[in-house]
Amino acid sequence: MNKSHGVEYTDESYAITARAVKFDWTDVPLQYIPNDWYATHFWNVMHLVLPEGERAMADVFARALTLIDDRRLHEEVVGFVGQETTHAASHESFRDYLRTHGVDVDPVLTRIGYAVDVVFGDHGLRGRAGRAWLHERLGIYAAAEHFTAVVGEWLLDNAEFDRIGVDPTMLDLLRWHGAEELEHRNVAFDAYQYVDGGYFRRVRTAVIASAGLALLWFTTASHLYRDRVATPAPTRRGYFSGRARTPWPLAFARASRRHLIPGLSFLFVQLALYVRPGFHPSSMGNIDKAVRYLALSPAAVAAQQ
Ligand SMILES: [Fe+2]
Ligand SMILES: [Fe+2]
Repeated sequence: MNKSHGVEYTDESYAITARAVKFDWTDVPLQYIPNDWYATHFWNVMHLVLPEGERAMADVFARALTLIDDRRLHEEVVGFVGQETTHAASHESFRDYLRTHGVDVDPVLTRIGYAVDVVFGDHGLRGRAGRAWLHERLGIYAAAEHFTAVVGEWLLDNAEFDRIGVDPTMLDLLRWHGAEELEHRNVAFDAYQYVDGGYFRRVRTAVIASAGLALLWFTTASHLYRDRVATPAPTRRGYFSGRARTPWPLAFARASRRHLIPGLSFLFVQLALYVRPGFHPSSMGNIDKAVRYLALSPAAVAAQQ
């Protein structure tokens, strides 16, 4: 049983609270997934793309709060906004590390800034049009939250990371974030259902969200991966010390075969699950593993002290 602001929850809807975690990147190797640059860059996309995306999502859900009268859901959305804001700050802290190691992050930041501020911004819409656009964005972010929750579970379950010795600080960031995504997996969906609940909007926005995430992820990971291949800069130690000879689609296939990233079928399977008419995130299995991880996560434990 969890407790927050005097409200106790006894079923799966745990009280959602932000944890003030901190990570020290000093001893983390640039290739934090041993012997796999593509997999390392695939997860680097989280550091580069998620902060803006999570802040924009937190902003949209904070706006929706005025439309949510249900006290418990209102409180969950407040906790959800707090968690997403903390996620954004935690990933952002790794950007400086990437920059100082010669990773070309600025084109990625320009692209995500455009996507979030221009494409998915509020466009200055008011009245009915503003309300409809808010509902659409709630649908898109609710679908995106399904993917973050299932990827979070994938990260928690992945024993291969432990077997090959992924850097423990980075692994804690990935799993702490993944655990909180699993922990709050119901919130965005419930908020969307409460504010709008339209099935066709849910399907449409799920297709938009999955296509957008896939496009953003693949273009960003391949940019980071290719940049390493193309730039002959021997002074930047570690980063350019080896030449990748494998084209990125093959590197992607190899990394997913090694179970270091989810495969392409994962995306389609999860999209198909999400668009089922009776879908609810709680039908995806229990979230005990998230609660267990958060009780042991070095960053989460330190945040409580
Ligand atoms: Fe998040
Ligand atoms: Fe989330």
